Formats: sequence, structure tokens, C-alpha cells
Amino acid sequence: MLLRPATPLGKSDRVNKPQKVNLQDKLALFAEHWSPKAVGRLNDYEIKVVKLQGEFVWHTHEDTDELFLVIDGRLTIQLRDQDVELGPGEMFVVPRGVEHCPKADGQVAALLIEPEGVVNTGDAGGALTATPESLV
Ligand code: NI
Repeated sequence: MLLRPATPLGKSDRVNKPQKVNLQDKLALFAEHWSPKAVGRLNDYEIKVVKLQGEFVWHTHEDTDELFLVIDGRLTIQLRDQDVELGPGEMFVVPRGVEHCPKADGQVAALLIEPEGVVNTGDAGGALTATPESLV
């Protein structure tokens, strides 16, 4: 009888074996607001979850679009010429170079898609600038 050779515990098994991601499980791992956590990667992009409450800072990402997909709660993406109101299952892409300021009256959980290394406060900096963290 031919035994299939044991697969060595190579990088492909230990590190890169595809796994499903449960967003609610990831959201249960942290409580802080305005601190996105990476939960996946798509080519050079990171998929992040974040909790939001209150008003962020006005800022711009000069080099990239930024996708917000609301999971729970209601989020307003303030732009200089309109407010975009998002509920669960709704998404909005802030075009690159467009100034924006997210605002959440209650707690919001959202998913973000943006290139690796994007700073959450964009050009504004300041106290709300988050250190990149990963839950992968
Ligand atoms: Ni932004």
C-alpha cells in the first residue's frame, strides 16, 4: 500500500493555509475606537475591522481611495459638500484626495479596505493616529 508522503510542515501549511475569517469574532477581540486591525490581505491591500464612536478628524489620503463597509451601527462620512449616511451592509468609497471626517453617534463596527501602510489620519496626523495592528 502506498502511503502518501507526509507533507513537511512548510511555510505553505503553517503560515499561508487559507482560513476563513469571522468578522464578529475579530471584533470581539478589542474595544478601542479608531484603531483599525488587519484581518486579511488582498494583494497589496489590507482588510481591516474598526470600531468607531464620536467624531474623527478631517483628513485626506492623497494617494489612495478608502473603502468603508458598515457592519453594525450607523456611520456618517462627512465630506465638504455632502454627508454620506451608512447603515449595516452599506459601503462607500472615499476617492483619493477627497477630504473626509467619519462620525458615529453610537458605536459602529466597520470594515475598511485600503493599501497596506495607509495612515488612518491621512495628512492630518495627531492624537488619533493609530499604530498598525494585525489580528491575522
Ligand atoms: Ni480616511
